[in-house]
Amino acid sequence: MLRLTSFIHIFRRSMSSSTVNAGLYRNAPVQNVKAVHDFRSDTVTKPTAEMLNVMMTADVGDDVFDEDPTINALQDRIADMAGHEAALFCPTATMTNQIAVRTHLTAPPYTVLCDHRAHIFNYEAAGISFHCGAGLVPVQPAPGQTHLTASVIEKHLVLDDDVHHAPTRVVCLENTLHGMIVPLENIKEITALAHKHDLKTHLDGARIWNACVATGISLKEYCSHFDSISMCFSKGLGAPVGSVLVGSKPFIKKAKHFRKMYGGGWRQAGILAAAGLYALDHHLPLLTTDHQNAQYLAQTLLDLNLGFSLLHPVETNMVWLNAPVPADILAEVLAKEGIRVFGGSGTEMRLVFHHQITREAVDKFVRVLKQFFEK
Ligand SMILES: Cc1ncc(COP(=O)(O)O)c(C=O)c1O
Repeated sequence: MLRLTSFIHIFRRSMSSSTVNAGLYRNAPVQNVKAVHDFRSDTVTKPTAEMLNVMMTADVGDDVFDEDPTINALQDRIADMAGHEAALFCPTATMTNQIAVRTHLTAPPYTVLCDHRAHIFNYEAAGISFHCGAGLVPVQPAPGQTHLTASVIEKHLVLDDDVHHAPTRVVCLENTLHGMIVPLENIKEITALAHKHDLKTHLDGARIWNACVATGISLKEYCSHFDSISMCFSKGLGAPVGSVLVGSKPFIKKAKHFRKMYGGGWRQAGILAAAGLYALDHHLPLLTTDHQNAQYLAQTLLDLNLGFSLLHPVETNMVWLNAPVPADILAEVLAKEGIRVFGGSGTEMRLVFHHQITREAVDKFVRVLKQFFEK
């Protein structure tokens, strides 16, 4: 059987002879790949050699018995950073969101209120209805507003005990939302309103790191307003897997019960927690560059007057564009040059920046479009 040390040795040797062109990647993934610049999402990053090395040498144990030292270290670190009592490491942010809401809800009937653009409403396969038997109430911001405010939420709260109604029990926010930062004032007012009515609050903070880096507001400050928060390692932080849920000790104890019930009670997953710890140390500081690259791309495209306009302000690592031609056409043109974006028959395009998108890739992106439109 191949011993771990020999495997590491072989792996290191293969890395040193890798033909990855480091100039094309800010943080080269391990495989010998052709240059592909993937702007579809920040979930597409591949682990770097350094990250894999840390994973391979992680100390592990059975996490169902709370015996994985690397998972325990990650959970303690995140709970401390977030200023909450406890944390629970899970495979995905869908799972941390679903477990959080399920843990908050006790006796039906009940509803959960969220932004109409929220991941839990649009992209979690109606999990809240399935797992909790709860209705989701998606709310739109007031006319002319980008974000939800306490006053618009107040209009949608169900607080009475009329038998025809299902009372609101949880209010969920998402930050960042479509790459935009939910203002701290809105968060404070909304969570204060919810708590005044004894409602629980959950934050889908899959990209809360981007909000922290862009605003300078600490994770602790953001998290102090919510009963539970889920955060992701597999988005801009560039880990292959992982999300952490934080909350009070009793909340996390109960959440762990649901994680087990949902089949998420994993064992020697410390190898994955090691990637999360590595990402906190080495990739979190890179988010600023992602934000600068997003700004740079947006500004350069607008300055060229090719017919693009912005659908949302660029506040973190996403650029939302209205293109002058259907996205499908541009996706095909870009793909021929090794650049991946989502297509579609409409003209909306979302570009997402991460640590494996370089400034050179952004310049190439602009060059390809410029050549296409000037032909
Ligand atoms: C805001 C937000 N929350 C939750 C998730 C779910 O993450 P996962 O893919 O880890 O389940 C995503 C995925 O992209 C997301 O964008």
